[in-house]
Amino acid sequence: KRPIIIDTDPGIDDVAAITAALFSDKLDVKLITTVGGNVGIDNTTKNALDLLTFLEKDIPVAKGCGEPLINKIKTASQVHGDSGVGNYQFEKEPNTSLLLKGNAIVELRKAIMSAEEPVTLVPIGPLTNIALLFKTFPETKENIKEIVLMGGAAEGGNATPVAEFNIYADPHAAKIVFDTSINIVMCGLDVTRLTGVAADDVEKVKTQGKIGEMIAHMIQFYERAYSKYSIAIHDLCTILYLTRPELFKTKRANVNVVTEGEASGCTVTHFTEEGNVHVCIDADVEAFRKAFTSIFAGI
Ligand code: BDR
Ligand code: CA
Repeated sequence: KRPIIIDTDPGIDDVAAITAALFSDKLDVKLITTVGGNVGIDNTTKNALDLLTFLEKDIPVAKGCGEPLINKIKTASQVHGDSGVGNYQFEKEPNTSLLLKGNAIVELRKAIMSAEEPVTLVPIGPLTNIALLFKTFPETKENIKEIVLMGGAAEGGNATPVAEFNIYADPHAAKIVFDTSINIVMCGLDVTRLTGVAADDVEKVKTQGKIGEMIAHMIQFYERAYSKYSIAIHDLCTILYLTRPELFKTKRANVNVVTEGEASGCTVTHFTEEGNVHVCIDADVEAFRKAFTSIFAGI
């Protein structure tokens, strides 16, 4: 199994991604770190703990940074609801024993440096924790196999006409991460919008047990932000990329992040064979939709 660490701001599509990762027989989730993004850090951390408690998975969680490096926090509660998980109510009290004492930066270092093989980082929120990790403990870069992230776009945006939310939320952090020489797989809007599932797919998942019901319930809240023919489960693309890479087509690029002004958060994508970023530019949409229903209907 491939060791991964998920850095996340749950978030409805984050919940789908984490759940898919935890039930994949190809991935070994070593640690989950939380960041402020879709909602504030206390809620994203509670949501991570609630989810793990619901799924009965004992994965350690470390609370990370609640504020972007320089900018003021901007949330996306209009899409994910005030709590971050729509109007879904987890019944049990969260298992707070999963919460580690150290903050995410310290726990990321520990997990990365003690791993037997290089770890894959899967950031699906703003990149604040990852940037702080690289600045604080640069030695961790050597033990990272790859970063497979949701963020950015070669073309277009959702937070603004030219910026995707995770990058827009903390462009300075994103710049630090993209400017490393680590191999980065960018599952940006180019591919996450393309692989939207349909309202019918969500209905299919809903009747298949308590996990399917939970995922569908949340997505049906979040559907309001999308068309019923294409509901983008953005963060899930990272996990599908890791488990079914054959579904995606990538192209190498260098990515420059704009940090100031009207275009702040824009990922200026220069396609070149020398680039450290593998931009997902296309995907097998039908196969992706089938994978979505079979993952959540099958657990
Ligand atoms: C990204 O922004 C967040 O709202 C989602 O969870 C996802 O990570 C999509 O732009
Ligand atoms: Ca997210």
